Amino acid sequence: MTPLGVLLGLLLTLAARHTAGQDVTTHDRVVVCYFGSWAFYRPEEGKFTVDNIDPQLCTHVVYAFAGLDETSHKIRSLDPNLDLDAGGGHGSKKYSDMAKDPVKRAKFINSTIDFLTTHGFDGLDLDWEYPARRMGIPEDKQNFVKLVEELREAYEPRGWLLTAAVAAPQSIISVSYDVPKLSKLLNYIHIMSYDYHGKWDQETGHNAPLTGEELSVNATLNTYLELGADPAKLVLGVPLYGRTFKLVDVDRHEVGDPTAEKAFKGPYTREDGFLGYNEMCEMRAAEPIAWTTRWDDEAKVPYVFHKNMWVSLDDEQSITNKVELAMRYELAGAMVWTLDTDDFRGNCGTKYKLMRAINHALSTAQRGTEPPPTEPPTTPEPEPEPEEPKSTAAATACHLPALLALTVLSLVARG
Ligand SMILES: *[C@@H]1O[C@H](CO)[C@@H](O)[C@H](O)[C@H]1NC(C)=O
Ligand SMILES: *[C@@H]1O[C@H](CO)[C@@H](O)[C@H](O)[C@H]1NC(C)=O
Repeated sequence: MTPLGVLLGLLLTLAARHTAGQDVTTHDRVVVCYFGSWAFYRPEEGKFTVDNIDPQLCTHVVYAFAGLDETSHKIRSLDPNLDLDAGGGHGSKKYSDMAKDPVKRAKFINSTIDFLTTHGFDGLDLDWEYPARRMGIPEDKQNFVKLVEELREAYEPRGWLLTAAVAAPQSIISVSYDVPKLSKLLNYIHIMSYDYHGKWDQETGHNAPLTGEELSVNATLNTYLELGADPAKLVLGVPLYGRTFKLVDVDRHEVGDPTAEKAFKGPYTREDGFLGYNEMCEMRAAEPIAWTTRWDDEAKVPYVFHKNMWVSLDDEQSITNKVELAMRYELAGAMVWTLDTDDFRGNCGTKYKLMRAINHALSTAQRGTEPPPTEPPTTPEPEPEPEEPKSTAAATACHLPALLALTVLSLVARG
């Protein structure tokens, strides 16, 4: 079962909507939207299907996930109900075995061509977590480059995109990635700049602090740039979810206060330690006075708490700050993990509030760097002869809308 045909049809029919300043037609940056096929199985208001995608808010939709068959070394569908191609470092070892052997690489690359063609995808996103880590070998770092090189060669003539999702911690980046080479070969690098802190720390902390910590979004960005990434290839990841914690002492609710091993889960995503933005906003709407909201001015993110529940999350303001920083570094744009946990139904107010905040911040940043528009001529000029577009910049200048999001398939291995 693949909802992909449906997805493409849907993207075509929804392509005409427009909301001022808050969609992808108002800027020339990328907005990469991952969505999890497993979101289809969430109960009630959490259920997310391809019909819920608003393609005006994304330039690229990344369908998560496909997997790797360890005996044939071919790409394969993953049962979306079994969450990930993972378990005890096993996912990572399969990649490692495939990437080190030229014959297996060729077989794999071949299989992706069939798979992408059959399902009508526009590209492949590699989500190997992580080369040379867990059950990988040190050679993974260069074998990953070889794999990417050969994929690039196979995809280029087909006009397909090749991207990768990469780690946030500096300790992984330096071991796993040959940043300058990957930056040359990939169309985009999706930085997974979240999960900096969670219940596993057994103290409260921010899921994705922008600044002020050794482990922060800003530090991650600086690491990639210092290692030689082309900023025009970097896409900043923004979480549309929060991390939950259970306080040990309800009176100790600052950042860094002790928390229990177990946290709590939301009604839709049902994963301990994780909470969709949609779940959080509905919980707060149900008990508006109960929840206390604080803003951490150093980390530039909010956190909320009620009794022994403590949540680090992103909101419109923190996401706007992140996108502004990404634009100061002149990055390619923003990526979200995942579309299906925004308030996509508008149950708390504006539909897709966070996705709109991202697009709004991108278009605001862009307007800020552009010269003011010239006055329109007072007398209508004759229609100019159609010309070949001179460059991408010229095409951007006349605001050719990205009406159709490109759909990319994400291949995962999580160890
Ligand atoms: C790749 O596919 C082509 C055409 O289907 C086939 O001829 C070739 O043997 C395949 N190569 C590998 C390594 O599987
Ligand atoms: C981001 O990090 C750089 C390099 O460490 C630093 O110069 C800059 O001030 C930081 N930006 C913010 C907004 O803190």
